[in-house]
Amino acid sequence: MRFDTPATTNPIDQLKIIGKPTDRIDGPLKTTGAAPYAYERHDVVPNQAYGHVVGAAIAKGRITSMDLAAARRAPGVLAIVTAENAGRLAKGNLNTATLLGGPEIEHYHQAIAVVVAESFEQARAAAQLIRVDYVRAAGRFDLAAVKDSGRPAPLFSGPADTAVGDFADAFAAAPVQLDATYTTPDQAHAMMEPHASIAAWDGDRLTLWTSNQMIDWTTGELAKTLGIAKEKVRLISPFIGGGFGGKLFLRADALLAALGARAAGRPVKVALPRPLMFNNTTHRPATIQRLRIGATREGRITAIGHESWSGDLPGGKPEAAVQQTRLLYAGANRLTTTRLAELDLAEGNAMRAPGEAPGLMALEIAIDEMAEKLGLDPIEFRILNDTKVDPEKPDRPFSQRNLTQCLRLGAERFGWSRRSARPGQHREGRWLLGMGVAAAYRGAPVETSGARIRLDGSGMVTVETDMTDIGTGSYTIIGQTAAEMMGVPLDKVVVRLGDSSFPVSAGSGGQWGANSATAGVYAACVKLREAVAQKLGFNAAEVVFADGEVRSGNRRVPLAEAAGESGLLAEDRMEYGDLDKRYQQGTFAAQFIEAGVDAATGEIRVRRMLSVCDAGRILNPKTARSQVIGGMTMGVGAALMEELVVDKRLGFFVNHDLAGYEVPVHADIPHQEVIFLDEADPTTSPMKAKGVAELGICGIGAAVANAIHNATGLRVRDYPITLDKLL
Ligand code: MOS
Repeated sequence: MRFDTPATTNPIDQLKIIGKPTDRIDGPLKTTGAAPYAYERHDVVPNQAYGHVVGAAIAKGRITSMDLAAARRAPGVLAIVTAENAGRLAKGNLNTATLLGGPEIEHYHQAIAVVVAESFEQARAAAQLIRVDYVRAAGRFDLAAVKDSGRPAPLFSGPADTAVGDFADAFAAAPVQLDATYTTPDQAHAMMEPHASIAAWDGDRLTLWTSNQMIDWTTGELAKTLGIAKEKVRLISPFIGGGFGGKLFLRADALLAALGARAAGRPVKVALPRPLMFNNTTHRPATIQRLRIGATREGRITAIGHESWSGDLPGGKPEAAVQQTRLLYAGANRLTTTRLAELDLAEGNAMRAPGEAPGLMALEIAIDEMAEKLGLDPIEFRILNDTKVDPEKPDRPFSQRNLTQCLRLGAERFGWSRRSARPGQHREGRWLLGMGVAAAYRGAPVETSGARIRLDGSGMVTVETDMTDIGTGSYTIIGQTAAEMMGVPLDKVVVRLGDSSFPVSAGSGGQWGANSATAGVYAACVKLREAVAQKLGFNAAEVVFADGEVRSGNRRVPLAEAAGESGLLAEDRMEYGDLDKRYQQGTFAAQFIEAGVDAATGEIRVRRMLSVCDAGRILNPKTARSQVIGGMTMGVGAALMEELVVDKRLGFFVNHDLAGYEVPVHADIPHQEVIFLDEADPTTSPMKAKGVAELGICGIGAAVANAIHNATGLRVRDYPITLDKLL
């Protein structure tokens, strides 16, 4: 089915089941431990052996020799796979770093071997006996030192550089100017479930139970890497303990489980140990960002310039930190540039709201600084420079943009009028209190997505799609969609996800999953409804599906009866044409923070948080809220704690475990509130929805920074804002 915009009225608009704050249908499985992680699937295939991954001990250079003899003789060892004995491996299209390294080493903890043994302990012990000699080469590990060697690098969403009008002249002529540089550090996804896979070969067919956000991508990547046909590979990933972008791609666990299983002639399971994950997998790259803003004395932006530098391994990608600056505020003269330098750290790649999250951490402090220079309230300054069209492409309107409404409503609900424009005015004992605000933006793409629906003789509806649920609520909103479309209660729907034998979905990434995957289910349901009507000889145009019945005129047939003994099956996918050329589709939010800073110690505590979100129709306010508060929590981590500390001599992330890499705990997040404007957007899909999961993180970092400034008068431009930066 092809989507024609705008969507007309359709069965989803009944909102009997969609739009309701339904509990997760997979909740009981999750809370009782009955939804296993990939590594825990002891039952799926017998005789599983254990693989232990060995990571490189240098960041750049060569392996000169690898002595496996002692490890091979160790108790229980079944096989050892290295680049030397693995056979020819190709590189996937989506991987920058080579997943099985050697003899060349590209980054620290790059996998160089997997040891397979009868038990986990035997595999780990034997891995310690492998002797590796290296020659180390000089590496580049310091972004600030190499940034000027950076080259223009295109973004996923557009070119490396954009220019409108004459930025340089307009900035020079502006009566009020800001020129400031901000930095964001490397960050880790730190999802709960480590990367893990169980691989089993049956002749030349490979089955992989794994933890991955993008089933179809990763099936193709694994096949390509191994040099086998995609049809020979099956991926199964029904439950995922978080991803945040770290599981978008094929990683070493999956490849090494497959290679280990082939070498050992047995199923093999591999989990990346937590201390290996931070340097072995991907991370959000650090950025250096320069913002220049010029405005009239009344506060109209006349020039806005955003330049960003990041680094990655050769052939890698930039952090797209400027992409929201192309869209968020009006201003006739504009400049954005993206420069990518080569670094020999682990691969940089997508982490929740890649681009916007670190980009807004800079832009939205700069906007706060400009408002202060202008003597304007930061909310009024943002509203004054709001735009209804893409400021770089004025013939392309936003399909929906209610940023001003978000800001106004948020100000009212948060008690913004109690904020003092002058910093350092509110004190409660030792605590200096302040409020901060930031605008948030995240793109809302839709992607082709398919599903298969079966109606059986008992009236049950079963949905199958390779869509994943990474903790987001996919199971539930997909079930709600099918229930709404087929006119049955939610408990008559079975949802089966995360299996490459199911129709290809959009997958979980880029905040496109919810809208795209449910639209695919919608398409399959339309086909199933037609099949039911046709079987009964009903006119498809006037048929109604409600209360477990199919109705036409005064005829009513229970769905179970309509399905008959053999049941009915339908499969389809929703496709989109040049939708993104006609509309700029995005999600917006206003995010508010109240923070306290201990006047003596500099300790920073977030006290209250509010997000007002403009994200189309909200399919399930409960799961959507859960996504937004998760994003807000991650935003506090980005503001105050999260930083992969680079050892600039040896080239690795030093704090590579969850003791050293700090993320917020419950005590750091006392109060969170989320408001959805919940306005259907008929230009996005028949669901009239958008994404929301990544929007939640986008403005929080800067809102925290702005609240700290309002509390103390101190402006910190380098994240994370740790207390030493306030003293
Ligand atoms: Mo998201 S960073 O595209 O999983």
